[in-house]
Amino acid sequence: MWTLRDETFLTLAIESSCDDTAVAVLEGQRLIRSSVLSSQIESHSPFGGVVPEFASRMHLEAVLPLVDKALRDGGVSDPRRDINLLAVTAGPGLMGSLLVGVMAVKGLAQAWDKPILGVNHLEGHIFANVVQHVDLETPFLAMVVSGGHTEVLLVKELGSYEMIGETRDDAAGEAYDKVAKLLGLPYPGGPVIDRLAKEGNEKAFDFPVPLRSSKKVEFSFSGLKTAVLIQVEKLLSAGSEIPVEDICASFQRAVVRSLVSKLDLAVSLTGVKRVAVSGGVGANSALRKELLAQRKWKAYLPDPFYCTDNGVMIAGAAYHGWMRGRRSGLDLSPSPSWGITDGI
Ligand code: KG4
Ligand code: ZN
Repeated sequence: MWTLRDETFLTLAIESSCDDTAVAVLEGQRLIRSSVLSSQIESHSPFGGVVPEFASRMHLEAVLPLVDKALRDGGVSDPRRDINLLAVTAGPGLMGSLLVGVMAVKGLAQAWDKPILGVNHLEGHIFANVVQHVDLETPFLAMVVSGGHTEVLLVKELGSYEMIGETRDDAAGEAYDKVAKLLGLPYPGGPVIDRLAKEGNEKAFDFPVPLRSSKKVEFSFSGLKTAVLIQVEKLLSAGSEIPVEDICASFQRAVVRSLVSKLDLAVSLTGVKRVAVSGGVGANSALRKELLAQRKWKAYLPDPFYCTDNGVMIAGAAYHGWMRGRRSGLDLSPSPSWGITDGI
C-alpha cells in the first residue's frame, strides 16, 4: 500500500506519440508508483506499420481509462489533492497521436487545477535510464535507438544535449521493421527478428556493417536493408528456400556491430565512458549482451519494458524539467518534429 508523505511529489505522465498509449505515476525522480500501457500492435500489424488515423482514434479510446488505472495502481485516490504535475509527450511523433495526449492533459489540468509540462520524446527515452540507474552520473553518452531515431548524444548535464552522431537515412528499428516485412514477418519486426535470430547462423550471410570504415559517429541502415532484399531475391530466383533464421541472425549481427562500434568510437572521441542506451532496439537481446560485455566503457540499459515507449520515461524527464524550472502553459501544442537539440 502506498503512503503519502508531505514532501511526496507525484507526476502523472501520458505518452501517446506513436502506437502505444502509456500512463505512469512517478514519485519523486525514481519511484515507479504505476506504469500502464495499451498497445495497438495487433491493429497495425496487418498493415505492416503504424496507420496514423487508426493510431489517434485508438489513443482517444484508451487514454482516460488508462489514467484511471494508473491512478488506482499508484494508490492515488484523490488526484486533485495528490498529483503535483501532469506531463505529456509533446513531440516528436505523429501529429494526431500527440494531439490526443496533449488535449487529455490539458483537460485534466483544468479539472484538477494542476500545472502541465510538455516533454520531448527523445529526452524521455534518455530518462528511462536516469530513472532506473542511481549511479548514472553526467556527463554520459546516450544512444536512442528506436523505430524513428538512431542518435548518439552527449549529455553534459540533464537537460543539456549535444548531438554526436545520427543516422543518415533509416533508423535501426525501422530497418528491423522493413526487413521483417520483406521476410513476411509481422510488425513490429524487432522482437520477431530478435527471437528468430537465436535459432539462426549469424555467419550464414556476410551482410555489410554500415559505414564501418567511416571515422565519424554516423549510421546508415537503408543499404543493409537493400542487401537483405537482394539476397532474398537471389535465393528466390534460384528456387531455394529462404533460411529466415539465418537471414535474421546475419542481419542482426551487422546492426549490432554497427551500433556497438560507433558507440566505441563516440567513447574514444569524447573520453566519456558511461553510455546509456534506450529506445525500442535497446530491448534487443544480442545488442544488450554485446553492450554489457564491453570492458573499455560501461553500458547502462533500462529493463526491456522501459526501452520501448512508456509513461515512466516521460514522467522522469518531466520531474527533472520541472525542478530545473521548465514550465508549459495551457497553450501547449504538439511539435511533431521537435528535435532534442532544438531546445528543451
Ligand atoms: O521506442 P519505440 O517503442 O518507439 C519509437 O519511439 O520508435 O521503438 C519501437 C522500435 C520498432 O522499430 C521495433 O521493431 C523495435 O523498436 N524493437 C526492437 C526490439 N523490440 C522493439 N528491435 C530489435 N530488437 C528488439 N527486441
Ligand atoms: Zn520511442
